[in-house]
Amino acid sequence: MSTIPTITLNNGVEMPTLGFGVFQTPLNETAAAVDTALRTGYRHVDTAAAYRNESGVADGLRRSGLNRDEVFIETKVWVSDYGYDQTLHAFDKSAAKLGLDQIDLLILHQPMPQHFKRTRQAYQALEQLLADGRVRAIGVSNFMPHHVDALMESATVVPAVNQVELHPYFTQPAVQAANAARGILTQAWSPIGGITFYPGYGEDRRSVLEDETIRSIAAAHGKSVAQVMLRWHIQQGRSAIPKSTNPTRIAENFDVFDYELTGDELARINALDTGRRGGPDPDERDPSEWNLQIAEP
Ligand code: A2P
Repeated sequence: MSTIPTITLNNGVEMPTLGFGVFQTPLNETAAAVDTALRTGYRHVDTAAAYRNESGVADGLRRSGLNRDEVFIETKVWVSDYGYDQTLHAFDKSAAKLGLDQIDLLILHQPMPQHFKRTRQAYQALEQLLADGRVRAIGVSNFMPHHVDALMESATVVPAVNQVELHPYFTQPAVQAANAARGILTQAWSPIGGITFYPGYGEDRRSVLEDETIRSIAAAHGKSVAQVMLRWHIQQGRSAIPKSTNPTRIAENFDVFDYELTGDELARINALDTGRRGGPDPDERDPSEWNLQIAEP
């Protein structure tokens, strides 16, 4: 079994580059998916309080028989838990559901532009959790550069990670550059473009998985389109967290460490950017989603 390369975060913590995603994985399928992923060789799982499957991640970890310290666990605080005390409590809820004393990476799920004070307070709580050793690293998700700039007016710890929508049809070069300038690792959500074909996300979608340019690159290497996208992320220094519940695809997405794309191939994939996001605009969130309450364990 190959070992996964790691990336050193800005506070020295080592994180496996390729993680296993469980966005939209139903709770009753999560343990099996996580167990399969860990047996395949993944050593990093990305979940979120709002996915409501943290306890499934805990079950999967247990089933795998791996030691706690062999797996890097990342989760996210949902916006309804923002505020200093609320976010400290959000850690307790997630840690209990995950069956962990310490979370490897805890990030804010998204900015709350209309309530940025609460976003700042939530981040201050993350800084406290970091100082107390309850988490090994902290970060953000779906932060545009102006959100990071605003956060850093009050923050003392630079986020280790900013997890954003990033696939060949939406590469966010300005976000990547701003993250890099601050020493923040860009982590791709929907790294193989699931957001471009998930049902219910709009009618005129083009699936990245059917892209002809990537298909031809994949054929040249005897790899799949998904494997090419994952290799593209890794070679450009990003973390990626592909989601699957299917054992064959879980294995396929992990089998990306034995080949290399050329500089020309990377450039051809970069050129596919449409500048059009598939997911929600971080500045135009639907306030009703703040009503989602994260249950007690
Ligand atoms: P499934 O769970 O049935 O495998 P993303 O992580 O970019 O959002 O993509 C996740 C989506 O892509 C899910 O719908 C997942 O479905 C599907 N998927 C995951 N891996 C692959 C793959 N190797 N080839 C095709 N589809 C995949």
